[in-house]
Amino acid sequence: MALPLIHGGPDGGPEIRFDFSTNANALGPLPAVLDAINAASRRHYPDPAYTALRQLLGDWHGVDAARVLPAGSAGEFIWRITQWQALAQRSQGRALRVWTATQAYGEYAAAARAVAAQVLHWPLASRLPPDLQAGDLCWLTEPHSPSGTSLLPDLPVWLDAAERAGATLVLDLAYQPLRLDARHDSPLLDAASCSAWQLWSPNKACGLTGVRGAYAIAPVGAVEPAAALRAHAPSWVLGIEGQAMLEAFCGAAAQQELSAHRNKLAVLRDQMEAALTQRGWQWSAGVTPFALVRAPVAVEQAPLWLADLRSAGVKLRDATSFGLPGWARINAQPAPAQAALYEAWDTWGAKQ
Ligand SMILES: Cc1ncc(COP(=O)(O)O)c(C=O)c1O
Repeated sequence: MALPLIHGGPDGGPEIRFDFSTNANALGPLPAVLDAINAASRRHYPDPAYTALRQLLGDWHGVDAARVLPAGSAGEFIWRITQWQALAQRSQGRALRVWTATQAYGEYAAAARAVAAQVLHWPLASRLPPDLQAGDLCWLTEPHSPSGTSLLPDLPVWLDAAERAGATLVLDLAYQPLRLDARHDSPLLDAASCSAWQLWSPNKACGLTGVRGAYAIAPVGAVEPAAALRAHAPSWVLGIEGQAMLEAFCGAAAQQELSAHRNKLAVLRDQMEAALTQRGWQWSAGVTPFALVRAPVAVEQAPLWLADLRSAGVKLRDATSFGLPGWARINAQPAPAQAALYEAWDTWGAKQ
């Protein structure tokens, strides 16, 4: 039986008052995006071809609209491209091989297992592409979650390796707009010349993860694969709210708001790192508002203290399902949430 996927955020338990467990922009929602969503008319179907949206996103990224694929969510696209690649391999009598980092977003492997693909792991620490073969599907999350680290300087090596092998490389850029190291519009990710698929999911940067909607950009020249993959989606795969979110996100107002949020998130993250390291926690450095942390708690006790925090309304993302028992992922949050976390931690310490 397939194991349920673990995610941050709501878990069916009591209300989470201070949620450090998702990577969403804690200062959101971006007002310009929320206004656009609220103004969107739900009375009509979206344009099934998403012509205007594709043009807008294409112009924003400097690519032809023919390379833009609206998606119901990043998760929906992950499942769609995996199924599409598995069908292509099956038609040649082969099983699909799917590569993910040793610690990676669980959806890549879940989608692969659902089509009986072989799941292979490349070691995150190596920074190098694995031994790719023709027909392989390879996922690279940039910046990476849960660690918040970046492989951006190594990207040319990855693009080259995938191209030479005839493998499909997908860059999951879910957290690229939230990166805090001033490389959020790096030329290394210029879609106009990129030979990999790019997957963008702005709901995290917007602070609106309840709104589902994302898009992919096909590699340069891959107009036919883009059309084929669009045809593998049901009609109206993206709802009106998601469409309004994507449209507003690439507007000047939302981008200015996001830029201001990034500056504040960097301050919050640094405050949290200082306060927690002072309490003896390990903080693993990265380029995002979220990071991996290890509290001074024995590995066997870690689930207990996370449950203790959770019962105090404070949630961190247990990193055990990423293969990192004892570690948790934590996202930058404003002062009241930080105060609740420090208090809950100090209370736990007093009980030991
Ligand atoms: C790396 C990564 N990609 C994709 C997603 C899913 O994005 P969406 O909300 O668009 O399904 C997540 C959500 O946690 C994620 O962490």
